[in-house]
Amino acid sequence: MRAIVFNEVNKPLEISEMSKPTLGTDEVLVNIKAAAMNHRDVWITQGMYPGLKPGTTLGSCGAGLVGDREVIINPNVNWGANPDYPDHSKYTILGMPRNGTFSDWIAVHPDRLLDKPEHLSMEEAAALPLGGLTAYRALFTKGGLTAKKKVLISGIGGGVALQAFQFAVAIGAEVFVTSGSDEKIQKAIGLGAKGGANYKTEKWYKSFISEFGMVDLVIDSAGGKGYNDLLRVCNPRARIVNYGGTRGNCVINPQLLFWKELEIYGSTMGNDQEFQDMVELVNKHKIIPVVDAVYKLDNCNAAFTKMHEGKQFGKIVFSLQ
Ligand SMILES: NC(=O)c1ccc[n+]([C@@H]2O[C@H](COP(=O)([O-])OP(=O)(O)OC[C@H]3O[C@@H](n4cnc5c(N)ncnc54)[C@H](OP(=O)(O)O)[C@@H]3O)[C@@H](O)[C@H]2O)c1
Repeated sequence: MRAIVFNEVNKPLEISEMSKPTLGTDEVLVNIKAAAMNHRDVWITQGMYPGLKPGTTLGSCGAGLVGDREVIINPNVNWGANPDYPDHSKYTILGMPRNGTFSDWIAVHPDRLLDKPEHLSMEEAAALPLGGLTAYRALFTKGGLTAKKKVLISGIGGGVALQAFQFAVAIGAEVFVTSGSDEKIQKAIGLGAKGGANYKTEKWYKSFISEFGMVDLVIDSAGGKGYNDLLRVCNPRARIVNYGGTRGNCVINPQLLFWKELEIYGSTMGNDQEFQDMVELVNKHKIIPVVDAVYKLDNCNAAFTKMHEGKQFGKIVFSLQ
């Protein structure tokens, strides 16, 4: 079978010929039909992810067949008993250090499988698991988002960001976005955003506040230098939820934080119940994840470069059909 395997940091990837996985106790084989990238895959190839294990098949997201059952795969492995946070001594995510989904076959425990939403193609369904789960927990469990509340989602071109955007629009929230690309902001407006701002514009928050007012919730994965601008657009008692730090460390302005009684939350992936709830939401609202592009496995380096350069709008998917 074909597999994209991580061997060395900063080396072009290639397709390896591997033997089919050996089944562990109670595991089943999934014939992967489509798999989706996450920024995690790029971090791994750049050596910027903990616990790297050369020889591991990459990929956390996948959809495929077990016999003739169409399934999607929950990328959590051993979240543990506490719904509030994963058991850090045991928790891993498919695709490092355990073999992942960029391969024709994967062995998983059947409790990792859910029926593929019927309204989604294999490629659309593969786009869902990791991003959808992260977006769901950040928006609802941590962010407490409900209909009519105002939420700002930063870096809307990102895979998780766009899924958070789609979930928030689906439940009737008022959704605003930032992006480093005016074109991506326009695309988000076309999909239901009430407005947006380019985070590359100096003091973008001023025109944002005068045009749209302030927001009740911010969902961010960038951190970095512009972080305080996100606090500036917050209503008193708003929440800021961070699930990533793409732009690195930030120095938080404490005055902004305490004066407005703001609350900052961290969020990672989501527990198994949240995975089920996320899929239920997708089924209920017939949400179709935005797929930026579908690549063949042979073209994996072009896909990785596109994500590294941040050129995508939505998920980058591999078709293995
Ligand atoms: N904690 C978790 O469980 C978890 C789960 C998933 C992802 N993550 C992390 O979250 C981040 C995003 O992951 P992803 O897979 O969605 O990545 P992605 O698809 O590669 O998206 C990255 C996006 O970051 C945005 N960005 C870049 N600079 C920004 C800035 N200064 N301000 C705001 N946004 C900025 C860009 O948006 P524009 O193109 O619109 O400018 C870009 O599209 C990564 O750091 C990843 O490791 C964490």
